[in-house]
Amino acid sequence: MEKREELYRGKAKTVYLTDDADKLILEFRNDTSAFDGEKIEQLDRKGEVNNKFNHFIMTKLEEAGIATQLESLLSDNDSLVKKLDMIPVECVVRNIAAGSLVRRLGVEEGLTLDPPLFEFFLKNDALHDPMVNDHHIVCFGWASEAQIAEMKRLTFAVNTVLKAMFDEAGMLLVDYKLEFGLDTQGNIVLGDEFTPDGCRLWDKETRKKMDKDRFRQGLGSVVETYIEVADRLGLKL
Ligand code: TMP
Repeated sequence: MEKREELYRGKAKTVYLTDDADKLILEFRNDTSAFDGEKIEQLDRKGEVNNKFNHFIMTKLEEAGIATQLESLLSDNDSLVKKLDMIPVECVVRNIAAGSLVRRLGVEEGLTLDPPLFEFFLKNDALHDPMVNDHHIVCFGWASEAQIAEMKRLTFAVNTVLKAMFDEAGMLLVDYKLEFGLDTQGNIVLGDEFTPDGCRLWDKETRKKMDKDRFRQGLGSVVETYIEVADRLGLKL
């Protein structure tokens, strides 16, 4: 399958049309963005590492019965995916307090959240991805109540699979963001990506940050640490 016209250029990935109207190609670039695009840098090998990491995780989720957009790995930086009509909200689950939750509610970073917390954010960089609730989503027609329930169910199902997987590999899945879309039959399918760019991972013993907070906070060794995460999961990059 070959890339045709560019459909959309995001901060870290580019989406291309293909000759198949139901399939797209996602290109993972080296661009690394934080603070809604305020800080952007090119990190060597990051696109390749995230593309292969995403393929690995999506395959695990498919094996666990969660439908994903991913079809196949095409090359170092490209993956073939199903075309979805994306729902413009971000689904976040938090197992441990960090990031915007700490800033918003003044809770201590590292606090265990039991049961895990679910939050919706509107995907809109210009507005800094404001938090929204179910009522905003229904009111503005971004998704129906049934679709909201399905997104929550699937986001928690991902937590069950991945929390255990990272735990066995000596890491804590602190929080993560998922995006969903509708396939041609109207099913809710997991889209976008799952990589260390869109989640927080801490070493279980030392609590070393192993995700994009290394970039946000200028801690260095960003891609090297993503490769270490993959390595612990048994994926050689
Ligand atoms: P937050 O603490 O900034 O709200 O982020 C929670 C988690 O969701 C964290 O793992 C980062 C991820 N996330 C993104 O990847 N992109 C986004 O635009 C947002 C709002 C969160």
